[in-house]
Amino acid sequence: MSTFWTDTVTRLTPYVPGEQRSGENIIKLNTNENPYPPTPAVMQAVSALSGDQLRRYPDPESVELRKALAAYHGLDVNQVFVGNGSDEILALAFLAYFTNNKALQFPDISYSFYPVYCDLYGIEARTIALEADYTLELDRFEANAGGIVFPNPNAPTAIDVTLSAIRALLERHTQQVMLVDEAYADFGAHSAIELIGEFPNLLVSHTFSKGRSLAGLRLGVAFGHPQLIEGLQRVKNSFNSYPVDAFAQVAGIASVQDEAYYRSTVDTIIQTRNQTVTELQQRGFEVLPSTANFVFARVPQTAGAQSATALFNTLSDAGVLVRHWQKPRLDQWLRISIGTPDDMRSLMHCLDA
Ligand SMILES: Cc1ncc(COP(=O)(O)O)c(C=O)c1O
Repeated sequence: MSTFWTDTVTRLTPYVPGEQRSGENIIKLNTNENPYPPTPAVMQAVSALSGDQLRRYPDPESVELRKALAAYHGLDVNQVFVGNGSDEILALAFLAYFTNNKALQFPDISYSFYPVYCDLYGIEARTIALEADYTLELDRFEANAGGIVFPNPNAPTAIDVTLSAIRALLERHTQQVMLVDEAYADFGAHSAIELIGEFPNLLVSHTFSKGRSLAGLRLGVAFGHPQLIEGLQRVKNSFNSYPVDAFAQVAGIASVQDEAYYRSTVDTIIQTRNQTVTELQQRGFEVLPSTANFVFARVPQTAGAQSATALFNTLSDAGVLVRHWQKPRLDQWLRISIGTPDDMRSLMHCLDA
């Protein structure tokens, strides 16, 4: 605490990212990173950048990258916005649409950055409780009362909502923005991008961090009506005109253009996930239905079994990193990212031991 801090900074409770421990024998299943490298085309594109390209500022509007993304999703370039990770997309979107003196609604168990941005911007947060089975019932959102944001699939539960439920909510909720955070939609959930032509208040965010193996690059995308996109551009250009650097722009294009590589790594992760669910269930874990690159698993409740906290610590001491929260309804659960089949075998060996 410093006397030089403003009141806002003094009262913040910043987001705490998962541990980035590295080392030879670390099995890192705690930050939902992709266990496979990006397509070799990304490495080629990055190495091919010239000193001259780095000497200059990058294209502030990332036009070529946005064109590649627009072509991939069958959209116009003015329906696409890119930022420095989808966290930055969220940060800009909250400022652009939700600082309007109305409470922002999001699930009570959800991405823990949402309340942090609310705090930062002084947005009132209104949480919507998940059901007893951890599903999100979109009918519980109050239409037009304020903005709405939720991840699909949700984090850390990994459970998705259907496109028809999203459409039904959008048909009622027309006066405020609804942001669907699809950070994990590469792994099976139905994307709401196909609805943006119909609903001018729908913004969908994506990331290159998960399905495209580029968490280290920091690249996120927003899709929406051109006027929503213009709102993001106005905030971006009032904060940092060049958030997406030259590396990210060429790497992003190379990634989007290698569909075969993307599909094959995503499909492998989905297969490994399904195998992991079976193996955890065989060991007495309850596992929520996942359409993400992670699973949310309740540690066995049998007599003599370790608590989730103890198991988290045991695994961490053995170099297997997973995520655990000491919070109501979450404290008996572990969030486990899907790694390679070898990573998951190491996890199972550790659990058996
Ligand atoms: C639900 C959700 N949204 C957004 C993000 C941000 O991802 P990034 O900033 O890497 O694009 C994450 C990161 O884990 C996430 O879990």
